Amino acid sequence: MNKHAETVIVVGATSDIARATAMELASQWNLILAGRNTEELEAIAHDIQVRFECEVTTFCFEAMDPDGHAAFIDDCFRVNDDVAGAVICHGFLPEQIQAQRDWDLARRTLDVNFTSCVSVIEPLMKRLEERAQGFIAVISSVAGDRGRQSNYLYGAAKGGLSIYLQGLRNRGRHSGVHVMTVKPGFVATAMTVGLVNPNSPLVATPQQVARDIVRGIRKRKNVIYSRWFWRYIMLIIRSIPEPIFKRLRL
Ligand SMILES: NC(=O)c1ccc[n+]([C@@H]2O[C@H](COP(=O)([O-])OP(=O)(O)OC[C@H]3O[C@@H](n4cnc5c(N)ncnc54)[C@H](OP(=O)(O)O)[C@@H]3O)[C@@H](O)[C@H]2O)c1
Repeated sequence: MNKHAETVIVVGATSDIARATAMELASQWNLILAGRNTEELEAIAHDIQVRFECEVTTFCFEAMDPDGHAAFIDDCFRVNDDVAGAVICHGFLPEQIQAQRDWDLARRTLDVNFTSCVSVIEPLMKRLEERAQGFIAVISSVAGDRGRQSNYLYGAAKGGLSIYLQGLRNRGRHSGVHVMTVKPGFVATAMTVGLVNPNSPLVATPQQVARDIVRGIRKRKNVIYSRWFWRYIMLIIRSIPEPIFKRLRL
């Protein structure tokens, strides 16, 4: 069972958006699914293998173990030396108020959403650059476009990630690796249960975001908002002058 020529790594593959993205990718690529819940990973891998008749390998990935990330990338390339690219999906949204009171929670928010992305992407980028080809798509967030009192710790990590990816894209332009930043707005997933109304027209399904991600990879987009209208919502939010913005309860 191996009907495709190349492999894509999906990190944080038990996430609702990642799972939907893996389904979209499986029509063109074999997959390496990485996450910390190995039982769930195996179930997802089996489901995709049966549906798409592609090769799916699973790896354990713990975001809070940055020292192990270079070895994780080495293992991925050892098992599949035909890696075409990766989609980085893991993330963690705390209760902002709790994170303000609890430094461990605040640090975890920064580590999972920012530091761990850098520690896994740097060795991955190096590997892809050795072949001067490939892509890295990373899920950031509209929350990183402007700091708000209701989620500025998560937003700061995602904002830092977006800036990091800008620089990485600039580096990759000269070394042959394409870097795409994904900025979802509200998505109905496990992360937002009780926070968003899944029936609201502003709230996307994981499948809609997955289709936007895979279309963006194929078209080699630099930055995508998902759904598309968030680009314009965030344009307005970013343009509000700071003296006014700081008075708002957002
Ligand atoms: N949902 C939204 O509205 C929204 C909006 C903008 C951006 N995003 C971003 O989209 C991405 C996917 O999130 P989602 O909405 O699909 O939420 P989700 O279903 O809750 O997925 C979160 C994923 O992150 C993984 N994760 C968390 N901490 C980890 C750790 N220490 N080590 C390894 N994996 C860890 C989780 O693994 P377990 O399954 O093991 O817990 C899970 O796979 C995230 O980067 C999120 O920040 C989401």
